[in-house]
This record gives sequence, C-alpha cells and structure tokens, in this order.
Amino acid sequence: MRQNPLGYLDEALNDLRRQGLYRQLRVLDGEQAASTSIDHRQVVNLSSNNYLGLTTHPTLRARALEALQAFGVGTGSVRPIAGTMAIHMELERRLAVFKHTEAAVVFQSGFTANAGTVSSLLGREDVIVSDELNHASIIDGARLSRATIKVFPHRNVAAAREIVAALPREQRKLLITDGVFSMDGDLGSLPELCDLADEFGCIMMVDDAHASGVFGRAGRGTVDHFGLHGRVDVQVGTLSKALGALGGYVAGSKALVDFLYHRARPFLFSTSHPPSVAATCIAALDVLEQEPQWMERLWANTRFFKAGLESLGFNIGVSESPITPVIVGDGARAMTLSDKLFAAGVFAQGIGFPTVPQGKARVRTIVTATHSEDELQFALDAFKQVGTELGII
Ligand SMILES: Cc1ncc(COP(=O)(O)O)c(C=O)c1O
Repeated sequence: MRQNPLGYLDEALNDLRRQGLYRQLRVLDGEQAASTSIDHRQVVNLSSNNYLGLTTHPTLRARALEALQAFGVGTGSVRPIAGTMAIHMELERRLAVFKHTEAAVVFQSGFTANAGTVSSLLGREDVIVSDELNHASIIDGARLSRATIKVFPHRNVAAAREIVAALPREQRKLLITDGVFSMDGDLGSLPELCDLADEFGCIMMVDDAHASGVFGRAGRGTVDHFGLHGRVDVQVGTLSKALGALGGYVAGSKALVDFLYHRARPFLFSTSHPPSVAATCIAALDVLEQEPQWMERLWANTRFFKAGLESLGFNIGVSESPITPVIVGDGARAMTLSDKLFAAGVFAQGIGFPTVPQGKARVRTIVTATHSEDELQFALDAFKQVGTELGII
C-alpha cells in the first residue's frame, strides 16, 4: 500500500487543534454587509474590509452588470497578450488621476501588486529596508527578489535610519512601509521615512491597501493625507477593500508602470480581470468623488466604536484607523473571545500567530460606513458581556 506522503499535514493540523488555533472557515449565507447571515446565524459583522459598504452599492452593481452584458464574463488572456480591454486602460487612467501620478497599472489583487512589484524592481545586488509589520505580500515579494532584506522594528525611524546610513550611497535600496498596518490600524511613519528616502537616495514605497477610500481627500490614501505627493515613488493600493471589488494597483511614474508592464510576473503570467470587475472599480472611483457621505459615516462610526471599547476597559492598542484590535495576548483566548462573541451575535475574527506576533493575539474589529449606531451599540454590549465573562475587562 502506498504511504500517504502528505501525512505530515494531519500532524500539523492536529497541532493547531491542540493549541486551540484550528479554525473552520466562516461562511456568509448572503451579501457582505454590516449585518448579515454567517453560518446561518444573523450577526453584526465586524470583520470585513468593506469600509464604505461598496460591495453592495447600487451604482457598482449596475455598472458591473452593464459591462458583463457588453463585454462578457472574462478576458481569456493575460494583459500583455490579448487580455487588455479598453476598460482596463480606462481604469488605469482613472487611478492615475485619483492618485495624482503620471500612470497606474492594475494587478489581479493587492497581494500580487505588492509581490510582483517588489520582486521585479529589486534584484540580488539590492537592499530592501522594511518595517517588521509590513504585509505578507511585501515580505514574499522581497524574498522573491533575492535582494538583501533588512527589517526595522515597527515604526522605528531611527533604526531604519541606522540601516540605510550604513549602506553605500550608490547602493540601490527600497524603503517600504504599509500606509495603514492591517492588524494594528496604526499609520506608517510616512513623512519621516520620506525624509530618510530623500536624504539617502532610497526608492520610497507605500502599501496603501487599508488607506485607499479611508484616508486623504476622497480616499486618496496616506500619501495625500500627509501631503507627500511627488515624494513616494511607488504607491500600492487595493481595489478589494474600501473600493468593494477585487484587484490591486501601483501608481507612480510612466517609466515605473511601463517597466512593470514588461517585468512584473503576475501582470505577465496571470489572466486579467473580467471586464465587470474593471467597470465596478471605475464606478467605485466615481462614488468616492460624488458621495463623500460614506467616508464621513465611516469616520463617525470609527470614533463611536473606539470610544465605546476604550470606555469598557479593553486594550485597543494604538490604532488611528477604522481597524481596532482588541488585544488579549494568548492565541486560544482570542479564539474563545471570538467564538463567544459569535454566539452572542457579533462576528469579529480572532487572529493569532503567525499573523500577529506571539503573545499579541487579538480579536480584530473593523467598522464600516454602513453600520448603524444601534448595530455598533449591540456589538459593544456583546463585548462587555463576553469580556467580563472571560475576565478580560
Ligand atoms: C496591508 C495589505 N496589503 C495588501 C493586501 C492584499 O490586498 P488584496 O486583498 O487586494 O490582495 C492586504 C490585504 O489583504 C493588506 O492588508
């Protein structure tokens, strides 16, 4: 009899079970919405990145349907062969205008935008200087590039400075940070890192996945929020979170985009977005410009919910964004908190190692523009009840 060569996977999974870290996928029965049915239970949903509620916005739905009827369901090719439709070019034009850059290129996801860009811009001889909490897609891109990776402690600009100052002036080096950190909700030290990049001649790159549609004028992101236009060479954004659909993009100079058209491997070797997705993203940009009420409500809800959690006595870290972690430390405890909240009608995912460091496990909450104050108060009441029961507060 053939031995199962994948037997070690069962051991790894059993290990997760023993540690209380094994998770069943939660399944949405209907739409991605502020309150929705998940695993057949009606819950207030505090786990999506649907910041502005655009996943179900009528304009986005209508434009997706129009494009589906006009152009079909798929493109049948990668972008550089036959998979570039006029609607892809229009989306890139609109993103460049949105980001105040010369050009933009769209990838299939934010993940591939980061990984494809970092891995193609840098090579074996180069150095990548990266915040320790940067997103996994940046870490993977850095590894794929084969460049030397130097990690600085989270938001520690003095440590980053020590690293870049020790490198030869002519050394090609990338300084890279998330705009908003996805697990803590704090902002990258953009102004200080831009100064560093200027002083030492680094390529400056920001991953604004959680900032597009959330920070800056009409959601232009952290570069706009901090007034740093022209000082960040590579801006990554996602179309999958606040913009409600799917995809990632890189905004910057014409040469940068042209280079990525020729060298970024996900762009070269993976099929382009269905036209309906491109149309949805263009519609999302229109909504950002024309309906400022969504961002206003997002921020009003953010203030309300953070104040509520804080007054209950939870450790909510140092977030400056709609992402608010409820930090409990132990992984199994975070999962128990999440499970008990779910039983009480609130979905807030537990997150443990390796997504966050050991001892920093948490339940991560994200409010959206479409939560009502009643829904948020219901969630706060559940946090109070379960947090007290578990001795967290
Ligand atoms: C900081 C950050 N960058 C990039 C990504 C990847 O974006 P996408 O989900 O569009 O692939 C994510 C999220 O998933 C993220 O949190």
